[in-house]
Amino acid sequence: MKTSIISLLGSTLDAHGPRGKDRWNAWRPNVALAMQEDLHFDEFHLLYQSQFKGLADSVVRDIRTASPDTVVVPELMEFDDPWDFGEVYGKLYDYALARRFDREERDWYVHITTGSHVAQICLFLLNESHHLPGKLVQTSPSGKGSKRNCGPRGTYRVIDLELSRYDALARRFASEKRDDITSLKGGIETRNAAFNALIETVERVAVRSRDPILLTGPTGAGKSQLARRVYELRKAKGLLQGAFVDVNCATLRGDQATSALFGHRKGAYTGAAADRPGLLKAADGGLLFLDEIGELGADEQAMLLRAIEEKRFLPLGSDKEAESDFQLICGTNRDLRADVAAGRFREDLLSRIDLWSFRLPGLAERREDIEPNLDYELEQWNARTGKRLSFNKEARRRFLAWALDPATPWRGNFREFNACVTRLATLADGGRIAVADVEAEIARSHVASSKSHVESRTCNSRPATCDAAEGGQRLSDPLADVLGADFAERFDRFDLAQLRDVAEVCRASRTAAEAGKRLFAVSRLAKKTANDSDRLAKYLAKFGLSFRTLAADRESAN
Ligand SMILES: Nc1ncnc2c1ncn2[C@@H]1O[C@H](COP(=O)(O)OP(=O)(O)O)[C@@H](O)[C@H]1O
Ligand SMILES: [Mg+2]
Repeated sequence: MKTSIISLLGSTLDAHGPRGKDRWNAWRPNVALAMQEDLHFDEFHLLYQSQFKGLADSVVRDIRTASPDTVVVPELMEFDDPWDFGEVYGKLYDYALARRFDREERDWYVHITTGSHVAQICLFLLNESHHLPGKLVQTSPSGKGSKRNCGPRGTYRVIDLELSRYDALARRFASEKRDDITSLKGGIETRNAAFNALIETVERVAVRSRDPILLTGPTGAGKSQLARRVYELRKAKGLLQGAFVDVNCATLRGDQATSALFGHRKGAYTGAAADRPGLLKAADGGLLFLDEIGELGADEQAMLLRAIEEKRFLPLGSDKEAESDFQLICGTNRDLRADVAAGRFREDLLSRIDLWSFRLPGLAERREDIEPNLDYELEQWNARTGKRLSFNKEARRRFLAWALDPATPWRGNFREFNACVTRLATLADGGRIAVADVEAEIARSHVASSKSHVESRTCNSRPATCDAAEGGQRLSDPLADVLGADFAERFDRFDLAQLRDVAEVCRASRTAAEAGKRLFAVSRLAKKTANDSDRLAKYLAKFGLSFRTLAADRESAN
């Protein structure tokens, strides 16, 4: 492989020493580089300023003398002010971009030495960012640890930032990255591979990008929490200074919505008693989290799009635009693509907010994380109350068996799981959770689950989501997952009511026979031969469905 080096002419050090023959006794960084016996360059690019042309010529001659096989290429590079960091970096950067380095065919080196720190720092940065290729060669007049002058040759060392010597540094960076990932996971040692991979990507995006992020997934999967943690991570890294502004769009309606988001002038509408800056303004320099973005009205969608693109918007009743530079995370449990297709959501807004789109899996999809979450929640409880709470061995086994059972749907995900642990912790006597406590909790959960199930059956007006009883939270409709978001428009309500119940039973069953047995429990008694799974298969086929598409454990379903 041929070798090439890029080096800057030093106006002081390269002119070092007396003129005439004696100059060969003085250490001059560029000539010294050419004098190294065990280091050879086929090509020597010497960057110089026109005011030092005379010096450059003599250094070029001396390099050729010291190393006759080296082709020296003087290259002009002007700096108005060599101490101006911006200028020096900019010029070297342009130089790096303009050149096509044959990285495959040649070993490249970049020379750094004592002298103008600005230039040295810029060379280092451009090498570290791979704009200038190869390894660094560092020259100095004296040997390691000594001030003694080593003669005209001085010493050198090669620094390869990619090399294992820098593993310790790399390990430090990796450990910082691990800390970032742990903080995004709230310190929980999650085991679900898909979730862990997702968080790793979120970490990279969170620290490298300012672009909007879209978090999707069922209610209680942790979207709001993750949004806040992304904010905290960015704040800790100095990537933003402003506030975290958390808005649930489902709570915004009409004039109130526009005014809450974009602000208003006093008297803009009845009830607007004073100026209001609005939430977008509050998020200036910080992060705006628009939860349930799919609930935003058409006017607000249009205004938001402009606010994202131009960082400007018009408050209600104002003739002067306001400015706000905010980072954005949106959350939704709706299928926004389907909303776009149905004309409910702006396509241009969606493509602006979903550059980074992450779907948080529900708890039922990551049951291996139930156990670490259980321990985490108990620790949190202990920290909050200052008491020690633990499970009986058998009670813990019973709880985990139930929580991990595919028949336990965890429709409310972490919100439901955490509530469950809170109830257990509150009701436990003497700091111990006993089997009876667990059994009581399981029974309670069954009642709550069938109640929310009834509620989800009775609201059929909104196909993909529907309001559940508590706090206006929206539960995703399991039928939407398998039939598509527009399913309510394709089937009679009469059929859907029945199908929804059938689907619930299928989701909670391991085999078609088990589901059939539950569904036809009464009528089968009157029959001579029972083939419930066949009857179920025929029923589901009417909707283009099979047990496999609905079953709790889709892998092993048959
Ligand atoms: N990974 C998690 N582990 C434990 N608890 C979580 C996790 N993610 C969220 N939670 C908790 O679950 C509840 C619901 O989370 P949230 O972020 O509000 O969900 P979403 O916004 O998706 O509805 C919150 O109390 C939150 O603290
Ligand atoms: Mg939320």
